[in-house]
Amino acid sequence: MDVHLEVLHPLPAYPFPWPFFRFFDAFPEAAHLIAPKLEPLALTGKEDFDLVILFYQVWFLAPSLPTTAFLQHPLAAKLLKGKPVITVIACRNMWLKAQEKMVSMLSGINARLIDNVVFTDRGNVFATLITTPLWFLTGKQASFFGLPPPGIAPSEILQAQRFGLALQNALADDAEKSNAPLLAGLKAVEANPKLYFTEKAATRSFYYWGKLIRAAGEPGQWIRKPILFLYVIFLVALIVTVIPVSLTLQALIRPLLRKQFARMKYNFELPSGSGTERMSNYVI
Ligand SMILES: Cc1cc2nc3c(=O)[nH]c(=O)nc-3n(C[C@H](O)[C@H](O)[C@H](O)COP(=O)(O)O)c2cc1C
Repeated sequence: MDVHLEVLHPLPAYPFPWPFFRFFDAFPEAAHLIAPKLEPLALTGKEDFDLVILFYQVWFLAPSLPTTAFLQHPLAAKLLKGKPVITVIACRNMWLKAQEKMVSMLSGINARLIDNVVFTDRGNVFATLITTPLWFLTGKQASFFGLPPPGIAPSEILQAQRFGLALQNALADDAEKSNAPLLAGLKAVEANPKLYFTEKAATRSFYYWGKLIRAAGEPGQWIRKPILFLYVIFLVALIVTVIPVSLTLQALIRPLLRKQFARMKYNFELPSGSGTERMSNYVI
């Protein structure tokens, strides 16, 4: 089997650890899908792939800017047209809106999304709101204030081998030529529809504040800093109010919305689903 690995190199490169303003300065463009330039790709456009696996992080409830840059690249439109694509997300735990944007970008270039695998942080929504930014700003993937360390658990990364093994079998059978998912029954994704309402509110705020900040200047310009600073205060207020209020309200009315949540969960988990029936074939 021939595998081509394309690593995207944005211009200019994003730093790690992230300086405070540089981190927040990425949100207006992420929210508006305004991508940076990429260094020339190793791809030529003449490749004819059986299957494309697109790994991406979520940035501000949107696909990361290097990923968006790739999807807007003329070579992506050429190489992914009609091809089966598997998306693999690594994020804190809020990926529903980002995947909506991904689905629309993929359908815009006529790619066929056949699977979605999602890896999220081991900590809960509240713990990771503290530990993930601390990781990015300090560069230390450590346990802060006794909370679980940020990032995907090493055991989960190890168990991800099941997807590779299943894909190897599927490709040997030419299963990618059908439209059916190749990774169903392997617990590829577990959606939490309760977070959707928070994501919707935050996406709207990223959009409008992003518009304002983009009107003020280009990424990196000092003129954006005061507005970014105001926005960070607004965002913290939004996080400490909207998430708890939204989750509490939903807990209160959950019995009434059980069916709607189940439908949302099912839809967000498409195409791979959260079923586990094939897990025992790939015990590691
Ligand atoms: C600029 C930036 C914005 C991010 N925004 C989100 C987000 O909106 N939702 C989320 O779940 N994770 C978000 N993350 C976390 C990343 O998706 C991801 O978990 C993290 O970068 C670790 O990825 P890695 O395991 O590939 O290093 C963000 C990360 C960065 C750098």
